[in-house]
Amino acid sequence: MVTPHISAAPGDFAPGVLMPGDPRRARRIAETILQDARLVTDVRGIEGYTGTYRGVPLSVLASGMGMPSVTIYATELFRFYGVRGIVRVGTAGGIPASVGLRDVVVATAAHTDSAMGSRRIDGVHLSHAASFRLATAAAQAAGTGRHIHVGPVFTTDHFYLERPALFEQLEAHGTLAVEMEAAGLYATAAAEGGHALAVLTVSDHVRHAEALTPAERETDFDRAVTIAATALLA
Ligand code: ADE
Repeated sequence: MVTPHISAAPGDFAPGVLMPGDPRRARRIAETILQDARLVTDVRGIEGYTGTYRGVPLSVLASGMGMPSVTIYATELFRFYGVRGIVRVGTAGGIPASVGLRDVVVATAAHTDSAMGSRRIDGVHLSHAASFRLATAAAQAAGTGRHIHVGPVFTTDHFYLERPALFEQLEAHGTLAVEMEAAGLYATAAAEGGHALAVLTVSDHVRHAEALTPAERETDFDRAVTIAATALLA
């Protein structure tokens, strides 16, 4: 079986999939944490690998950027490849001052400005909630400390729109960070009967210009990957 966006054979994906946005991160995860990783798909340069982690089969597939892209890959994995759980491992912009660069955010829910969710059931604003099982396992794996945050994030369609007032309001509603995929992933998991979570590394902040360099973005999210992989195996 081949889907429009994935060229893997049946059984090529493990039940659990780590999902970074960037294909180079997918390859790096395969090279650094998976044993015996093999490439199972690379349609459009979106690379997927399957190997084992602590002796258990585990896969990694990049999502590309934004809700339309993550929704395509998550739907095909859940619907056609027997995948049961997907954990996004990506970057996010911190919203409150208490969320600093390199901190990890376990996203229990995702607010969004996207119209994608509202198109699923006419007249209904669906909740975009993480899998309770995966979120609990990730929070446990992450432990406590001021660099670990568990709570809602904001999934936006706009990377460059300047909206300081919006971020103030989101902060007042307890929102920890902004990114571009979690709500789409959570809605897809709900529709397909799967489990989903996002474990995010803070790469920049909406209040100041400080940000991780591209090289730091590549390497500084290892902690989030370990938390995500541990949650998928729990
Ligand atoms: N991903 C990482 N940082 C982001 C930001 N500031 N806005 C949206 N997505 C992001």
